[in-house]
Amino acid sequence: MRVAVYPGSFDPITLGHVDVLRRSLGVFDRVVVAVLVNPKKAPMLDVGARVDAIIAGVAEALPDLADRVDVRPFAGLTVDACRELGARFVVRGLRAVSDFEAELQMAHMNYRLAPEIDTIFFMTALEYGYLSSSLVREIVRFGGDPTGMVPPSVADRLVSAAAAEEAPVGVP
Ligand code: PNS
Repeated sequence: MRVAVYPGSFDPITLGHVDVLRRSLGVFDRVVVAVLVNPKKAPMLDVGARVDAIIAGVAEALPDLADRVDVRPFAGLTVDACRELGARFVVRGLRAVSDFEAELQMAHMNYRLAPEIDTIFFMTALEYGYLSSSLVREIVRFGGDPTGMVPPSVADRLVSAAAAEEAPVGVP
């Protein structure tokens, strides 16, 4: 059985991530979406909320494939998470050439740390090439509509999370 780990912050999962996940399921039997717990960053959705949003979003957007997807949090190194899960592949998406440099560096570093694990890249569909979690967060924080950028149930969760945040300092 070919197992891959798709690591990321997923704050929130976007339709671009969903597209990469769908493509990876054409190659791998099982894909574990590994959600990074990063103590240095204050996420919009905490890790439990991100995991729940991914489970709901994948069930909604990829109903026929969802049974081959696991979602779990991880802390520490991606390669250690892969070893723990028995995965020999890391999946990452490339939206544009601008992603390439950082991704190449990470892939080389992961290979150096764990040469038995390879990184496989999938090119995100052109229609989602402009999407990023950080832009989606910004849009929602300023009252914009994330419909068509994230799965519908994720949009609802984001709008609630943004409403629960404190208003930006300095706004009268
Ligand atoms: O969604 P992101 O923020 O682009 O994902 C980045 C991620 C989680 C894949 C990367 O930061 C990562 O692998 N972090 C875990 C720590 C680690 O393994 N660092 C070395 C990578 S070279």
